[in-house]
Amino acid sequence: MDKHPALVVHSEQPFNAGPPPALLREQYITPTSVFFVRNHGAIPTVDVEPYRLVVRGQVLRPLALTLAELRAEFPATTLAATLQCAGLRRSELFMVKPIPGELGWEADAISTAEWRGVALAAVLEAAGLEQDAGHVAFLGLDTVARQGQSFGFGGSLPLHKALMREVLLAYEMNGAPLSPVHGFPLRVIAPGYIGARSVKWLGEIVVQSEPSDNYFQQHAYKLFPPEVDATTVDWSQGEMLGQLKVNAVICEPGADTMLTAGSVPVRGYAIGTAGQSIELVEVSADGGVTWKSASLTSPRQPWTWSFWEAELTLPAGRHELVVRARDVTGDIQPADIASQWNVKGYMNTAWQRVAVTVS
Ligand code: MTE
Repeated sequence: MDKHPALVVHSEQPFNAGPPPALLREQYITPTSVFFVRNHGAIPTVDVEPYRLVVRGQVLRPLALTLAELRAEFPATTLAATLQCAGLRRSELFMVKPIPGELGWEADAISTAEWRGVALAAVLEAAGLEQDAGHVAFLGLDTVARQGQSFGFGGSLPLHKALMREVLLAYEMNGAPLSPVHGFPLRVIAPGYIGARSVKWLGEIVVQSEPSDNYFQQHAYKLFPPEVDATTVDWSQGEMLGQLKVNAVICEPGADTMLTAGSVPVRGYAIGTAGQSIELVEVSADGGVTWKSASLTSPRQPWTWSFWEAELTLPAGRHELVVRARDVTGDIQPADIASQWNVKGYMNTAWQRVAVTVS
């Protein structure tokens, strides 16, 4: 696998890794070698010859498409889109209360690429939808072991999202065929939704009236209130995660950096609710008492993160830098991280705080 040697490996098997924040912040379109990786099982080897994308369920014309047919019969489209895992910034929640059995993702479970493929809507249109269609479920060709059973990773999108033009069946990433680790030969890209819905190694699309019954829709990737813990959780409850929420991160300086008094550059990224663009990023050098607007340095467009930067004047001492963002829909982040704790450690969108020492 052609990954940058600086990536922090969170687990070898299955392979999970993310770039250090300063490396992540270097390029707006993340080079494929730097792009984070989130797997729940081993990376499958998919042979293109026998490969068929099956489309079935509540459709008028079930399909079994070769990759060549997919490329020839549907218009290709290219889209820059950020992929963000629901586990982004989980490690900060560990300080509130432990979350046993989950990976300690930092601000690294996010990256942006140029994806090329076909609109999912075009394939669904070719298949024709029956009247009861309400959700579009995806099944990966990988094998994941959970609760004593083995099955493919899966999840679904509500039909209204699946029909949006930004949702792709992608076969290229950053101008090259998908690499095995990122889902070769075909994956879903669902911009504005948690990364888990962007199913890799896509084998099947099933149109149905209910959300996917896959473990990763019905059990994992559910959000519970902070008072629910591992002893009280009822897995039949909880909110199935879908849309991302507005979030912002300081990539530089890193936590516990030693800085020289004076003007200090602060840089990071922000992402809007449901993939909408960012309107405002503010930074604080005093733990959130006073704020300064940051400059947005990237194009204002939906589906991708925004890069921002600011200069803060810091005297000697210990300082808590804080960042918060607002998106174009007016959505803002919660201040308090304790209110964000949940039993699986998803969707931490609290103001991010980074302590630094200035001499
Ligand atoms: N698809 C399959 N088949 N298996 C997986 O384990 N992980 C999901 C999603 N698609 C996963 C999958 C999760 S949780 C995320 S965040 C993204 O893929 C990560 O995509 P990446 O590894 O290309 O960054």
